Amino acid sequence: MTATPRHFLDLDVLDADALRRILDLGAAYKAKRPPGGMEKPLAGKTLAMIFEKPSTRTRVSFEVGIRQLGGEAVILTHHDTQLGRGESIADTARVLSRYCDAIMLRTNKVANLTEMVRHATVPVINGLTDRSHPCQVMADVMTIEERKGEIAGKVVAWTGDGNNVAASWIHAAKRFAFELRLACPEQLRPSSDVLAWAKREGARIQLLTDPEAAIAGADAVVTDTWVSMDQENGNRESREKRHNLLAPFRVTERLMDRAKPDAIFMHCLPAHRGEEVTEGVIDGPRSAVWDEAENRLHVQKGILAWCMA
Ligand code: CP
Ligand code: NVA
Repeated sequence: MTATPRHFLDLDVLDADALRRILDLGAAYKAKRPPGGMEKPLAGKTLAMIFEKPSTRTRVSFEVGIRQLGGEAVILTHHDTQLGRGESIADTARVLSRYCDAIMLRTNKVANLTEMVRHATVPVINGLTDRSHPCQVMADVMTIEERKGEIAGKVVAWTGDGNNVAASWIHAAKRFAFELRLACPEQLRPSSDVLAWAKREGARIQLLTDPEAAIAGADAVVTDTWVSMDQENGNRESREKRHNLLAPFRVTERLMDRAKPDAIFMHCLPAHRGEEVTEGVIDGPRSAVWDEAENRLHVQKGILAWCMA
């Protein structure tokens, strides 16, 4: 009987011990202390990466990461594979499982990820969906812990759209035992199923509409783009409406001053200076965004080793 592959799908379906193990692996690779002294634990292994939408950090950090662990990556974009001509996810999963040792998928629809998992016989990694972005938030947790010590008991404030990244932050709040305050417009709250999960699990989540209240005394302030990749088709009117709704949630120097004096600013990137964050904040002394981006590489290696080694 074949063992069930170790998928990395979402922070709500992985337990806290597994997530901590992944972070420890990532930290060991970052410190150049490969666990067990194994420099190249993925030698001879291949990761297939499918991108239905653009990526800089996720693509490069996975590709460089697997090479550093001794393996290789094959990059596939939706439009230049048979997926773009209608071949099913199921058949693609079956075929890629015969060639590759893991599959990373960045998709517009979470249902595509579910379908991939159903038919793949190798580990599947969620490289972002319309619903979540777990690899990102693992790197974010690593960044907070590097700057501020253990995240348990800390206060993280999210301000802006209650989007896919916010959903993974909600999952992380439970798994890593920190308090998460989200300030979002009523119309752009995180999805009700994620909020219901947080309630059931007893996660320390506060949902607010006032960014000042959310940020007061926070250890880390986080935001993201006002228009995610799956929302780019709106007309000018809907874009303006979104902009107006989200303008009060912009992270400014004045808003950052409400947080703890040593609070850090975080953003998964790409950023839009003058929209969700001012230049003074993202390029200022409290910004941790470049460490955060770098940590994608280290955490990706933790994820790859945990799934594949
Ligand atoms: N933060 C992030 O996932 O960036 P990319 O879209 O560039 O991969
Ligand atoms: N919320 C953003 C994250 C990009 C990394 C998006 O989905 O486009």
